[in-house]
Amino acid sequence: MRVANVGIFLLSLSFFHCLQLIPERANVTYINKKYMEYGRLYISRYGRKSPYYINLEGIIKHTWADNITMHLIFYEYLHNEYRRSFVEVHIMYCKMMKTDPYIGGMLAKHGAPCPAPPGEYKLQNMTLQGDNFPNLFPISKGKIEVELTNTSSTETILKAYATASFVTKAKKKI
Ligand SMILES: *[C@@H]1O[C@H](CO)[C@@H](O)[C@H](O)[C@H]1NC(C)=O
Ligand SMILES: *[C@@H]1O[C@H](CO)[C@@H](O)[C@H](O)[C@H]1NC(C)=O
Ligand SMILES: *[C@@H]1O[C@H](CO)[C@@H](O)[C@H](O)[C@H]1NC(C)=O
Ligand SMILES: *[C@@H]1O[C@H](CO)[C@@H](O)[C@H](O)[C@H]1NC(C)=O
Repeated sequence: MRVANVGIFLLSLSFFHCLQLIPERANVTYINKKYMEYGRLYISRYGRKSPYYINLEGIIKHTWADNITMHLIFYEYLHNEYRRSFVEVHIMYCKMMKTDPYIGGMLAKHGAPCPAPPGEYKLQNMTLQGDNFPNLFPISKGKIEVELTNTSSTETILKAYATASFVTKAKKKI
């Protein structure tokens, strides 16, 4: 199944409503110097009881609005390899900032503007909604491949990935 519009994007995000995502590793694997001077994505932690923080840094050369599209491809870790799943998300930057409470909400909370003028951005110590939830039961591991493109030319701007564990939130007994 190809998820190619906002309605289905929100539906796929409701997936995260009962699942918590714990980031593990992340990195940028490609940067198009025509669009970005520099870009970094990494996970950090401060001690054993600290949550896993997502950190994003970059210098962009143009204004970013809906003329930038973010593509997310979800992989599931099965039998010692990452296999592409049916979940795929394609959303324009400002639309994401306005409509998506998870990634858009996380970026907005840390000051990412929309539109984003050219310049340097450092978004540090970010966490996804639902972190620190107690009584977790791990169910699976996964990887998300991220690609940013120029919406109209589809030219690649950046490629990155993040690996994560997905855990279910404990259900309350009635
Ligand atoms: C992240 O990517 C950079 C550049 O591609 C590489 O030098 C570095 O070793 C990578 N770091 C990790 C933790 O994979
Ligand atoms: C996106 O659109 C803005 C406003 O029209 C423009 O200034 C900017 O250069 C565009 N960005 C890219 C990456 O093409
Ligand atoms: C990130 O969190 C750690 C631990 O709470 C803190 O020491 C550090 O100053 C924070 N960094 C930023 C940039 O907020
Ligand atoms: C993005 O693609 C459009 C359409 O090809 C082009 O006009 C625009 O210049 C591109 N943006 C940049 C920053 O190259």
